[in-house]
Amino acid sequence: MRQHVNPLSSNFNQIERIPSVSEMFRESQLNLHLDIGCAAGEFLFDLALVNTRWNYLGIEIREKLVKNAKLKVLEREIKNLYFLFGSANNILNEDESKSILKNLKSISFNFPDPWFKKKHCKRRVIQPELINILSNSLRTGTLVFIKTDVKDLFDYMDFTISSNLYFKNIDKKDFNYSESFNPNKVKTNREKYVTVNQLDIFERIYIKI
Ligand SMILES: C[S@@+](CC[C@H](N)C(=O)[O-])C[C@H]1O[C@@H](n2cnc3c(N)ncnc32)[C@H](O)[C@@H]1O
Repeated sequence: MRQHVNPLSSNFNQIERIPSVSEMFRESQLNLHLDIGCAAGEFLFDLALVNTRWNYLGIEIREKLVKNAKLKVLEREIKNLYFLFGSANNILNEDESKSILKNLKSISFNFPDPWFKKKHCKRRVIQPELINILSNSLRTGTLVFIKTDVKDLFDYMDFTISSNLYFKNIDKKDFNYSESFNPNKVKTNREKYVTVNQLDIFERIYIKI
């Protein structure tokens, strides 16, 4: 089992330069989706190769994974996929991220690290401060997707997002996936494992109002 990375470590205070959206993607006007905690990025490769009318951005705190993902993007000459290394909480707090946030159509938090111990809850990626940054910078109508197999983490994330008055829960039944960033309901690696092992999945979609 892999060791979780502590996002509060001072190692992550130094942030690499955050390029503008037009530097990241060949067609910067396309719909933009951000996946937070994208690991090696397989989910985003699967999406970007099929949905070429969307741009995909992944943020991941494990540097080696991001280096390898960036190499793969270059080798395969994929123009609608970009990866940033660092803690999403620090990256999205930077002024340079404001224009990225303004451009987003949607964000996903897929199976974030649960940090079960109470004293480690501050290490969870979804924090009230991050949700405030999102509510201050996202455009009205931007969607936020959360998914996990840990009920306690789901309740915590749902409470944290719902406590912000600018996010409203959307009924999944009324949601049209075909127009979303993931029209074919591609699964993340953790989701594949959870599905094979018949574990519960807890998910919710919010809209910025
Ligand atoms: C349990 S894995 C899930 C990976 C993938 N989303 C999936 O569904 O298969 C959680 C990922 O989030 C990353 N992560 C944790 N905290 C982070 C943070 N603050 N910023 C960016 N990535 C983070 C971890 O390194 C790990 O790759």
